[in-house]
Amino acid sequence: MKRILLSIPHMGGLEESYVHQAFASNWLSTVGPNITAFEEAFDNWIGLPSVALGSCTAAIHLGLRLLGVGRGDEVVCSTLTFVAGCNPVRYLGAEPIFVDSEYATWNLDPNKLEDALSDRAKRNKLPRALVVVHLYGQCADMDPILWLCKQYEVPVLEDAAEAAGSIYKGRPAGSLGDIGTFSFNGNKIITTTGGGMLVSRNLAWVEKARFWSQQARDPGIAYEHSEMGYNYRMSNVLAGIGRGQMEVLELRVKQRRAVAFRYRDALQDLPGITLMPQASYGLHTNWLSCFLVDEAQFGASRDELIHALDRDDVDSRPVWKPIHMQPLYAGCKRFGGAVAEDLFRRGICLPSSSSLSKEEQLHVINCIRRVAGEQELSQMDLATSSV
Ligand SMILES: Cc1ncc(COP(=O)(O)O)c(C=O)c1O
Repeated sequence: MKRILLSIPHMGGLEESYVHQAFASNWLSTVGPNITAFEEAFDNWIGLPSVALGSCTAAIHLGLRLLGVGRGDEVVCSTLTFVAGCNPVRYLGAEPIFVDSEYATWNLDPNKLEDALSDRAKRNKLPRALVVVHLYGQCADMDPILWLCKQYEVPVLEDAAEAAGSIYKGRPAGSLGDIGTFSFNGNKIITTTGGGMLVSRNLAWVEKARFWSQQARDPGIAYEHSEMGYNYRMSNVLAGIGRGQMEVLELRVKQRRAVAFRYRDALQDLPGITLMPQASYGLHTNWLSCFLVDEAQFGASRDELIHALDRDDVDSRPVWKPIHMQPLYAGCKRFGGAVAEDLFRRGICLPSSSSLSKEEQLHVINCIRRVAGEQELSQMDLATSSV
């Protein structure tokens, strides 16, 4: 058996034909029919206008600029996330303020957000924006978050990099705030090898992002520029992969959820290892299957488990190291942080590919069961689990 990786691309079948069309028509550029078709498919699926970009990091950068973030501003960010979600704050000369997670969702704690906003309001220094992440495929509890941000007139950027296909109270992640951003990095639920999308119900903003992403070239035949631009547009070749991937997004959500619930069922008799909570308000895609390890009950620490899996040729990784613990962001203001630190210390992400075979998953499960000193399962046991 080959090494089992954390999260690998899973093509639906049509991607290659769209990429071939790009070659056949010689649209090997950042313009072309695949880009238009990919954006159209995304617009139809999310119900908002969108612009395809080179990465989600680029989308967040453009999104924050659209929200007016600039030098000397403050931006509130979820602390438990990947660093790419808040680096663009610094690209723009602003400073992040970090807010802790809640145990119920692992996402931004609305109570801590209220502490942050009321503190900044008292100091007459309201943040220019909030970047709220939807972690590992689960939406943050957006109703109280949006309500608070409305009270304080703080616009909201949803970092839905990990949450394509996730739902909050019937609405797709990324469609709830002022701006939504998505990633199509190679490890995501759907991929273009690398890529991103920005969406907003404000069409003028989407058009502005498209303009900036193509070096902000003014209309006319001369290469005239009045605004700062970037080379952030998606390529027509990669958009061909995205077109094909859009056709299987719903299936990939089902498959990722099945992987997570198969782990949950196969490990349920083991004390001290529990699946990330599944908030009742939405659909958690379980882009990554994440578990919390309680060393005293489980009999091994999270790190010991990662090392044991590694010895058995299985990739796993700790839950994100909170950004307020990163040397790069040392000294930044924060509200809470102990919950995110605890989730980081005890959390593990297991192999979660939608193409993970039952045989491969059984290998991972039995490695975990051996570490816990429990009897291994058979293919039959897995076949009769509830998924
Ligand atoms: C939460 C989060 N935000 C932002 C990003 C950045 O996305 P990209 O790699 O497409 O720039 C990622 C992942 O890569 C992510 O997980």
